[in-house]
Amino acid sequence: MVKPDGVQRALVGEVIRRFESKGFILVGLKMMQVSRELAEKHYEVHKERPFFGSLVEFIISAPVVAMVWEGDGVVSAARKIIGATNPLSAEPGTIRGDYGVNIGRNLIHGSDALETAAREISLWFSNDELANWEPTI
Ligand code: CMP
Repeated sequence: MVKPDGVQRALVGEVIRRFESKGFILVGLKMMQVSRELAEKHYEVHKERPFFGSLVEFIISAPVVAMVWEGDGVVSAARKIIGATNPLSAEPGTIRGDYGVNIGRNLIHGSDALETAAREISLWFSNDELANWEPTI
């Protein structure tokens, strides 16, 4: 998910480019204004953390772009492409390392494991919003 800061910094294209160039397949994509209910469910694991309230407020404050990418090893590769949660610790060459400085404005969220990805995809997308295709070239 490209967060509101990523959308407002005009980084949606850059995020898509990095995943496409790596060879992953885009199977779901939508811009949306997130409801409080979805944001709270999505970040449920963090609900006892002190930053939970501000995180939810931020995610619902302006549109985000949600995506589903497919391919071998996509979850772990995406974590490398995205970089460490805190952009100040993220390696140069990663999205957060190249474009961010603030942990609360770290531009993008990526699922941290296959099971989390399955949960998040079902929260964010209905089946008819997901394309079933593979490259033929
Ligand atoms: P994300 O990958 O979306 O998952 C949870 C988010 O919480 C994380 O990225 C950060 O944006 C945010 N977050 C994590 N730790 C902190 C923190 N210490 N202060 C503020 N926000 C945080």
